Amino acid sequence: MSKKLLLLLAGLGIAFGAPMTALATPEDDLKEFQSYFKKKFPTVPLEAYNDGVNSLPQYADRVGNWELIMEFPPYEEDIEAGEELWNTPFKNGKTYASCFKNGGKGLAVAYPYYDKESKKMRTIEGDINQCRVDNGEEPIKNLKHGEMAQLVIAFKRLSQGMPMAVKLDSPEAVEMYEKGKHFYWARRGQLNMSCATCHVQNAGNKIRGDVLSPALGHGTGFPVYRTKWSLAGKPLGTIHRRYGGCNKQVRAKPLKPQSDSYVALELYQAYMNTGVPIKAPSQRQ
Ligand code: HEC
Repeated sequence: MSKKLLLLLAGLGIAFGAPMTALATPEDDLKEFQSYFKKKFPTVPLEAYNDGVNSLPQYADRVGNWELIMEFPPYEEDIEAGEELWNTPFKNGKTYASCFKNGGKGLAVAYPYYDKESKKMRTIEGDINQCRVDNGEEPIKNLKHGEMAQLVIAFKRLSQGMPMAVKLDSPEAVEMYEKGKHFYWARRGQLNMSCATCHVQNAGNKIRGDVLSPALGHGTGFPVYRTKWSLAGKPLGTIHRRYGGCNKQVRAKPLKPQSDSYVALELYQAYMNTGVPIKAPSQRQ
């Protein structure tokens, strides 16, 4: 993509906007972030952002194709597989539900979060593996696709349609949030671009034939079934798989799924999504 992409970007006349005010509180950031998108896409209601690029008027000429695919969603089998995994007892007879309050119902809206007891950030993938270990099973190694993605789908569907409501209720949580915010707005890679360059300033613009999705809502539709990934035989992807792909877009080194920086990034994005309902899984190009 290298030279071509650079030319295209030059053609778009990309404006490198300043990151949000340095001294702003998370609440200020949230207000500013959501009103930016409200102004940019006045016809798109907050609830619609879980459809990613499909929610944008700039994608209207292609959304028919997506709607056609959605008549027989390609991820149906993965939903079933996820439910089966979720409900299959471990060797000790317990199930995943035993590890979570209310069996996991309604919890996904608050992930990721800082847990004061364990003094750790908790992610859905991390807690699924913790549950396995606590019950004498091996953790799932691949955190990008396959069984882990199917299990995350099962867990998130216990909160399907519920609005995101991440809390930053400790200094540690706020610190992680700031780290994620910095990651989001910092330029990187040989192309020297931040996540915001593409998904804030240029949301709705075209790049190499793709329309860029808005940062708002990012993650609420994950894990996703991607046509592009399906061609390589691994159609499902967790949000950290996608982060890795987007790091590569600018020729920056992708980080490991569940690495500190990606968890912080996920926290920042999840907080910015406050009020956007969960819709998992989703189909993407
Ligand atoms: C060079 C432009 C570019 C940069 C920089 C970039 N992305 Fe992307 N990103 C894309 C494209 C293209 C897609 C696929 C089309 C779409 O959904 O926007 C995408 C898709 C995504 C998606 C999937 C959205 C969905 O609902 O399917 C997420 C999440 C995402 N990017 C996050 C990030 C993050 C986080 C960063 C910074 C680490 C980043 N992107 C940097 C171009 C970029």
